[in-house]
This record gives sequence, C-alpha cells and structure tokens, in this order.
Amino acid sequence: MAIVLQEPSRTFSEYLLIPGYSSAECSPENVSLRTPLTKFRKGEEPAITMNIPLTSAVMQAVSDDNMAVALAKEGGVAFIFGSQSIENQAKMVRRAKSYKAGFVQSDSNLRPDQTLQDVIRLKEEKGHSTIAVTEDGKPDGVLKGLVTSKDYRVSRIPMDTPVSEFMTPVDKLVYGLDGITLSEANDLIWEHKVNQLPVVDEEMHLKGLVFRKDYDAHKENPLELLDENKRYIVGAGVNTRDYAQRIPALLEAGVDVLTIDSSEGYSEWQARTLKWVRDNYGDSVKIGAGNVVDREGFRFLAENGADFVKVGIGGGSICITREQKGIGRGQASAVLDVAAARDEYFKETGIYVPICSDGGIVHDYHMTLALAMGADFIMLGRYFARFDESPSAKVFVNGTYMKEYWGEGSARARNWQRYDLGGSSNLKFEEGVDSYVPYAGSLHENVNLSLLKVKSTMCNCGVLSIKELQEKGRITLVSATSIVEGGAHDVLLKDATVR
Ligand code: IMP
Repeated sequence: MAIVLQEPSRTFSEYLLIPGYSSAECSPENVSLRTPLTKFRKGEEPAITMNIPLTSAVMQAVSDDNMAVALAKEGGVAFIFGSQSIENQAKMVRRAKSYKAGFVQSDSNLRPDQTLQDVIRLKEEKGHSTIAVTEDGKPDGVLKGLVTSKDYRVSRIPMDTPVSEFMTPVDKLVYGLDGITLSEANDLIWEHKVNQLPVVDEEMHLKGLVFRKDYDAHKENPLELLDENKRYIVGAGVNTRDYAQRIPALLEAGVDVLTIDSSEGYSEWQARTLKWVRDNYGDSVKIGAGNVVDREGFRFLAENGADFVKVGIGGGSICITREQKGIGRGQASAVLDVAAARDEYFKETGIYVPICSDGGIVHDYHMTLALAMGADFIMLGRYFARFDESPSAKVFVNGTYMKEYWGEGSARARNWQRYDLGGSSNLKFEEGVDSYVPYAGSLHENVNLSLLKVKSTMCNCGVLSIKELQEKGRITLVSATSIVEGGAHDVLLKDATVR
C-alpha cells in the first residue's frame, strides 16, 4: 500500500494571517521587500538580490524581452521562455540586456537631402517630433543634425525644402559621448536647456537619444534591478535536453540567471543539467531548478547545486496536470514543507538556497501568505499575462478586453521539453489549457498596487521585511464557514441590485 500522508494538501485560500503588534514605525514606506534570488553562504551576500519578490513565469504568453525590461524596472526578474529556438531566445535576452534605461534608439531618422514633406510624413507615421538627421538616414549613421518642431514652420517654407536647410546642424547641437551616464546626460540637458540629447561615438555615429521626460520616468523606478554595468537583470528558462547548446548561447547574449523549466524537477535529468553547468562554469553561472513539492525534492536539487528551487506542481491557473495525472500538491502545503527543508539544510550546511513559490497566486494576499509561509520569492503567470507588457494578444471578447493566456503544456505551446521524461520527444497529452484572462492595464500600476497591499499586511503583522514576516508571522487555517464570513455577506450588493 502506498504511504498516505495524514495532512491534507492545502491551498493559500485556506489560510489567513493574524495581525501582530504594529508600532508607529510600521508604515508601508518603511517596508523592504528585498529578497535573495540565488544561494549564499551564511554571513555572505547572494550574487543577486531582487528589490521585489516577484518573477514572471517561463511561458510564451508571459515572458519575452519586453516583460524582462518592464519587470526589472520594478525590481523583479522575468525568465524569458525557452520553448522557442535557441537563436530567438538569445535574441530576446540580447534585446533586454541592451536596453539602457533612459537611452532610446532613434526611431525617426532622415538623410540631409530628404525634404520637409518627409519630415511631416515621418512625424505622422511615428508620432514623434524629434527626428535625427544622419548621413545615411539610419538610426546609427553619422549624425548631421536634428529636426524638432522648433526648426520649421509649415506655412513659411516649401514642402520640397531639403532637411539640411532648416535642421539644427550638429555643430550647433549639444551632444553627449557614448559611455555618458544617464545622470550626466540629464545634467547636460538642464545646463543647455534642451529637451533631448543625442549620444554619439568618437566617429560621430549616433548611439541613441536621451529625452528630458525619460529621465523623470527613470527616477520613478527607484527599485529597478541593474547589473554592475547598469543594464537590467534578465533571466531565462532552459530545459534538460539541449542545455549544452542553449546555455552557452544565452550566456553569450548576456543572461544573468537561468532556471530549469520543468513540471517535475525531482529527476535525474535535472541533476545531469546542474552537473553540466557546474562542470563547465563552476559557480559563476546561476541556475535554479524545479519544480518540487516536498522535502526530498528540495534536498535533491540543493545537493546537486541548484541556486534556487522552484516549488509547485499542478497549482498553475492553466494547469490540468492534477486532472490528467493525479499528481501534485496544494501550493500552501508544498511551500510550507519545502521551506522547512530549506531551513534545515541551511542549519546543516550554512548554505541558504532560496525557494520560489511558482503558480496558483489568485489574490494579492496569496503573495503575502506565500512569503509568510517561507517563499523567498514568487513566480506568476496569469498575473503578468494580463498586462500590456506581456507578449500575448489583447482581444475583445463578449464586450470586455481580454489577453490570451496558454499553458506551456497546452497543444498551442507544444513545450514538450517541460514534461520530458526521456524517451521520444513529443507531447502525448496536454497538461495545460489555452485561455483568456481579463486585461488589466499597465504592469507598473498593478505591481505597485499589489505590493502596497503586501506591505500594508506586513505592517498589520508588525514586520518590516520578508525575513521578519517569516520569523514573526502567524497564520491560521480557516474553516469553511469563516471563508463565507471573509467575503461581503448578509447585505445586498448595490452593483447586483442596480443592474
Ligand atoms: P499561474 O501563475 O497560476 O498562472 O501559474 C503559472 C505557472 O504554471 C508557471 O510558472 C508554471 O510553473 C506552470 N505552468 C505553465 N504552463 C503550464 C501547463 O501547461 N500546465 C501546468 N502547469 C503549467
């Protein structure tokens, strides 16, 4: 007879946090959500610490280069999906890594011999009023001048006037040299009272533009997560099949952290992948593994050198693994068990291996619960898929805007490597669905609102950091009737009666 665990498998919705004493210091602006992403020895600092405890799922519908930039701006990390060719994934990593906050590549460019007519056409097409004039009309050509709306009056000069006659020529322009920092660029913008600053290399090739307004935007993201060269930290998913080709290509593209993306991580395939990384790169390459749902799975991956361990099987919103195969574990039970194993391992070895609660976050308070239960950070798919920055299409369904969201185990994604158990290489049955999620607007606003809720709850618990939440937080199981009590009850909701 199989071993039957006596504890039921529980989900986040079955728990509540109990408030603790909140001193006057306990206000959201005093809460820090900094958290380790990669393992570290007692007394040392992790190689990567995130400023917010959120990562985006390794999924086609969630994490591309655009998401990587948007989430790093907030202080988290996106793991760019691996269910695509090595070349495409490396391209996405390269694009996200070469994105420089506040520096944009000029997308409206003309040659000096083009005309005012071309200026008007380009302005309409791109919607920007700053046009770079380069020798060959390319965004990286030799800079000859700039055209802004101050340089011409449509009623005063003929449409066929060459750009060279009314542009501000380069010898009258203020420009910065490549390598300039954003704050130095901003100083020049203010000193010379200009709205934009072209940045050029020594041969006067245009490298980018800095706009006055973008500097302000940059200042709005004080938690952005940058590497030592001030580029965004970018993650990517890998599988246990083509890692020997994929990992070098991703590293070459500049990836900072990898994760093995698999529905079930307690396997020889993961051990082999981790061993290959350690044999070839030592500890210099950071790689997480998973997913597991218990103590044994955690220990196995930690002992095989994982930099973090992902927790969760069957809890994802698009996941049908539990229905298809009858395996998995309630996400709360899984996190609690693995967190205990992580603490035990830390006590024994002095090595702290962060854990990630992956999937199943439905309400914002689930984030707080996951952290209180011991997760160092969280991975979310459905949550991020709803935002402008996710790669999936925004569609109008039954009078509401939706975004498409599909599982990596669905026929649409065809990510058979994620469900790999060796043997032949195709997906025999689906473990995920293709769905819609309600469109929710911009990532920035949503993430800030969700994390404000997390911080307020932490204040109610009387704690100012995730570590403190884990040490001092108190959690209680809720009965079925207290779940009813938790929603609006015994009142007639106006929304429902007005209809
Ligand atoms: P969500 O945040 O609840 O939508 O869950 C996202 C997580 O579900 C991902 O990070 C994966 O771990 C997992 N996942 C992604 N695609 C599938 C699938 O097709 N089947 C099962 N789990 C999936």
